[in-house]
Parts: sequence; structure tokens; C-alpha cells
Amino acid sequence: MIYNTEIGTDILLAKQFLDKEEIVAIPTETVYGLAASAFSEKAINSVYTAKKRPSTNPLIIHVANKDWIYELAKEINEKAALLIEKFMPGPLTLLLPKKKLVPDIVTSGMPNVAIRFPDHPIANNLLKKLDYPLAAPSANPFGYISPTTAQHVYSQMNGKIPFILDGGKCTAGIESTIIGFRNGIPVIYRLGSVTISDIEHVVGPVTINADTSQTVVPGMLKKHYSPRTPLLLTQNIDEVLNKHIGKKIGLLTYGTYSPSLPEEHQIVLGTIANMSVIAFNLYSAMHTMDVAGYDLIIVKRLPDEGIGKSINDRLNRASTL
Ligand code: TXA
Ligand code: MG
Repeated sequence: MIYNTEIGTDILLAKQFLDKEEIVAIPTETVYGLAASAFSEKAINSVYTAKKRPSTNPLIIHVANKDWIYELAKEINEKAALLIEKFMPGPLTLLLPKKKLVPDIVTSGMPNVAIRFPDHPIANNLLKKLDYPLAAPSANPFGYISPTTAQHVYSQMNGKIPFILDGGKCTAGIESTIIGFRNGIPVIYRLGSVTISDIEHVVGPVTINADTSQTVVPGMLKKHYSPRTPLLLTQNIDEVLNKHIGKKIGLLTYGTYSPSLPEEHQIVLGTIANMSVIAFNLYSAMHTMDVAGYDLIIVKRLPDEGIGKSINDRLNRASTL
């Protein structure tokens, strides 16, 4: 099916499509999602197809309120309850044992369901109008950079979905942090918008699941979040420039422009003093650079702390060299 994809702000129109088991791209505070009724196998199948995503890679369920979390998950332990109280709505996804109500196709047959209560006025308004929660992966083709504007979604998904609900530019700019439990100990499966120290303040020490070879959470796949142009994360810009003389190079940096290449080939993402601005601008800048015809995109590595750690994680996975 080829759609004449529309972009708009009409929440009731979005609801009409979703009620008909169609896909709608929705804004969230992290990135845009490709949403479908979590209770419709047909709609979820279309999400996997539109995204070209293997059906072994499960979807996050987005809910309208905290009550839904208790509807969909069983065994909500004390720490999970604390995280719900402290961070929801917000950019945190909890992995919890699922109830039967959650279709197996949403979790790719796995026993846990990923649940998130987003914090975006338009997404929340839409979710409140629906009788079902929304299963949604990020609205990019599998492996590509996540979209943070309706226009990004359009350029990747034009023709594949009927409607994109425009909610402006996503304020957080990188995906939610995914957290689950192993023997009662919190485990972070994907670094994201909520920092490790924010989480440790609430539930004490956490483990970070650094095993990229396993496929429990494919957001941890080594190669992911990539532009089509080769990308390199580095601390030493001059060294990279010297290795790639004669190539057309774009630089994503922070603080001030680098004196080593023309300013028109650079995007300054923000400053170290406020790395959340860097997160806000990152994917947009990667999209911009990716269509600008560079041979190579260089990104200056951030300090490995706070949200900088999550940003470096994404850039490591986007890095092709
Ligand atoms: O910020 C976000 O989380 C965005 C917005 C749209 O909510 N969503 C997002 O979804 O990033 P996605 O599908 O691109 O990444 C979710 C990750 C995937 O790596 C998936 O494998 C993992 O979460 N995941 C989802 N459900 C899971 C489950 N039941 N068990 C294990 N991993 C799961
Ligand atoms: Mg994704």
C-alpha cells in the first residue's frame, strides 16, 4: 500500500487512523515514534514492515497514565514503583514481566514488556483519547538516525504511512533510557535521556548491560543510529583531518568552531556546560550533515558523564569507521 502521507496537528484525525488499525507517526519528548494500537496484531505487523525491522526486535508500549502500567505488567517490584513515581511521565522505559493482555508480537515472544509514559503534550493528549496504548518504535528505517522533527519522519517514511502528527522538535532529542531488573537489581539496557546518576539517586546502584553481542535489547546493537555518510567519533580532529586529506568533511562540535576547517562545514551543537542542548540538536544536525554530500562526518567526543555518556554511546554505534 502506498499512502499520500500527510503532516498535520489534528489529534482527532490521528485517532481516526489509529482506530482503523493504521500507523501514525507521533511526537514524543525523545524522538518521533511509529505508533499503532498495541492490541492490534495487524497494525503492529504494518509497523515492522514500514520500519523494515526484524520482528525479533520488540516494541515499546506508550501509555496515557500510570494505571496502564499496572494493567500491562505484573510483578512491579518496589524499585520499579519508585522509578514510575519519580520519572513518569518522562524519558524512561521500564522492562517488566508482561501480562497476557500484551500480544506476543509486541514483545517478540519475550516475557518482558517495555513500557513508557511519555511527556509530550500532543502525545499525551492523543493517548488519553484512545481505548488502547500505542506500540511504537522510533520512526526511522531500521538502523538509521532517529527523527526529531516531523520533517525527518516525512523524508524517511513518505508513502509508507498515512499521517504524521506534528508536535514540533523533540525537546530531549535522544531516546529514552531503558531499565529492567535481574534478580531484583536494576539493569540499564540502553543509555538515554535519563542519566545513570538520576536513576541511582532513586534506586541505588545499577548495573549497565554492556554486552553488545546479545540480542535481548537490540537497541544495544553495536551498529545502529547511523547516517548513510560514514561517521567518526574522535577526540583529535586534526589527526582525522590529516588522515583524510582531499575528502569533503563535515564536523559536529561544541563550544566554538574548530580553526581546522571552514565554519560552513561545521555545526556547533551547544556547550559542555549544558549538554542537554547538545542532545537536543544532535540528530537534527546528523540529518542535515547526511544530506549535505559529505564524504565523512566527524563528531567531537563528549565528556563521558551525565547525558554526555548517552550521547557518546549513540555516536559510537553510529560510527562506521
Ligand atoms: O525514546 C524512545 O524510547 C523512543 C520513543 C518513540 O518512545 N522509542 C524507541 O523505540 O527508541 P525503538 O524501538 O527504536 O527502541 C526500543 C528498544 C529496542 O532496542 C528494542 O529492542 C527494545 O527497546 N525493547 C523493546 N521492547 C523490549 C522487550 N520487551 N524486551 C527487550 N527489549 C525491548
Ligand atoms: Mg530506534
